[in-house]
Amino acid sequence: MKFIILLGMGLLLGGVIYISEEFVSKGNNSEQRVVESKGRQKSTACISCHGLAGEGHVQGAPILAGQIRDYLIVAMQSYADGRRKHDLMQSFVSGLSDEDMQDLADFYSSQKRRLR
Ligand code: HEC
Repeated sequence: MKFIILLGMGLLLGGVIYISEEFVSKGNNSEQRVVESKGRQKSTACISCHGLAGEGHVQGAPILAGQIRDYLIVAMQSYADGRRKHDLMQSFVSGLSDEDMQDLADFYSSQKRRLR
């Protein structure tokens, strides 16, 4: 009898843990989707060279997918303020706000990196 009660409690506890984990992971996913879609919308100007999901496209345009988020932000800031010299990239990022750069970096860093 004791065993059955213990078993029941174990199952109950397991169920609670399972359900709460479901909630947590669902929460994260939807948050990530919002981040993704904000960054994705802002990335339309970048697609022609960096590809739909940052996979790199035109020769010389680096892969952005799966790159470290903060690295991407620093790279964009550097083109904007001239620490990195590249006329094309400067013109594409100089109009971006800090928030735009963060959204773009969130988007590209969360994309799966694929080799070309
Ligand atoms: C006309 C083509 C073109 C477009 C459009 C373009 N890029 Fe680039 N991007 C490049 C090239 C080429 C480089 C490499 C430049 C260099 O040698 O420094 C680059 C480099 C970068 C880097 C640095 C990557 C690294 O590994 O260091 C980032 C970040 C980046 N681009 C983001 C963007 C974003 C965000 C947009 C859209 C707002 C964009 N680019 C639009 C061509 C483009």
